Amino acid sequence: PATGLRDARRRPLRDLRISVTDRCNFRCVYCMPKEIFGRDYRFLEHDQLLSFSEIVRIARLAVGLGVRKLRLTGGEPLLRKGIEELIAELAALRTPEGAPLDLALTTNGSALPVKAEALRRAGLQRVTVSVDSLIESRFQAINDVRFPLSRVFDGIAAAEAAGLGPIKVNAVIKRGVNDDEVLDLAEHFRETGRTLRFIEYMDVGSSNGWALDDVVPSAEIVRRIDEAHPLDPLPAAHPGETAKRWRYRDGAGEIGVISSVTGAFCGSCTRARISAEGTLYTCLFATSGTDLRTLLRDGSDDDRITETLSGVWRARDDHYSELRARGAGPDTGRRIEMSYIGG
Ligand code: GTP
Ligand code: 5AD
Ligand code: SF4
Ligand code: SF4
Repeated sequence: PATGLRDARRRPLRDLRISVTDRCNFRCVYCMPKEIFGRDYRFLEHDQLLSFSEIVRIARLAVGLGVRKLRLTGGEPLLRKGIEELIAELAALRTPEGAPLDLALTTNGSALPVKAEALRRAGLQRVTVSVDSLIESRFQAINDVRFPLSRVFDGIAAAEAAGLGPIKVNAVIKRGVNDDEVLDLAEHFRETGRTLRFIEYMDVGSSNGWALDDVVPSAEIVRRIDEAHPLDPLPAAHPGETAKRWRYRDGAGEIGVISSVTGAFCGSCTRARISAEGTLYTCLFATSGTDLRTLLRDGSDDDRITETLSGVWRARDDHYSELRARGAGPDTGRRIEMSYIGG
């Protein structure tokens, strides 16, 4: 049966991360540095983007192959015009057993004050918001467009008020940039019901000038928080989870650490990614993908597209983070950018 689909390392296909735009209103220095993503940068034109019906078609066929979780990403997904309509169509999809899918969205939070209510009404279940610093000047220096932190907090509050909780908050920690805020971040989100997840700074793309010295290992983060507020490990919420979970012993909630550098989790990676222009990638660190848009537009039937999807998945052998950990990255080409594939 189709749900028996496994890649070359026996991993099933469970998650589909869909980038709906390559644009963003932020220019985070580690993701879309202005020197590269400046005035002259050529973003995708509208006709290069997958239409909503094309996205829904891929998602529906992927569900037939085992996908149970959809995550919308960007760039900044809330910049895509009419995103609520897409969400409504994706929310209507069902598994073969008739259950709805897990439907989430990763955002910088800037548009949530305006959009949260409509997103919830369209059928979105939850959002993950990025907050890398609690210091206003630093937050604005990181997003590099002087976007105020208070507005992101308004967005988180709006999302909760609309029923998009419990909210997850992502913080990428970079040595010398915001590693002095690890404990402050933890204390800020303790007892709020918002789950903070610390992400190790990764060597995604080719434009962020990554160096191993920039990485703050998750073990160090957990140790620093545990010293002030004792932590106990929690079991994974679901197989293949990116974050390792820890709960505060005093009952103040939980945190997560995403150790993409010091603790590769490729062995249980069930994620496929689709770029905004319809290219299928089987790893965040891929240098090339499979064009699905041409198939979607040349009259190919569902069987043909399903065969392409399952063929690509069956051949999948990606395990980049494991290779990097062994010091042997297959760095043969220009990797896709985080802002293009959405993390
Ligand atoms: P939930 O646990 O359902 O909230 O999903 P998630 O953890 O996949 O969500 P999220 O988009 O918040 O992922 C958090 C971050 O983990 C991403 O922004 C990436 O930085 C990182 N990440 C997610 N998937 C992968 C992956 O497959 N490989 C690597 N190396 N990093 C990943
Ligand atoms: N390493 C780790 N996380 C990153 N993100 C963007 N670039 C990187 C990187 N180099 C994060 C964003 C956001 C999510 C989509 O990915 O901060 O939380
Ligand atoms: Fe920042 Fe996310 Fe936009 Fe990248 S996509 S510039 S991390 S807000
Ligand atoms: Fe999956 Fe690639 Fe990330 Fe490994 S590096 S967890 S294979 S996306």
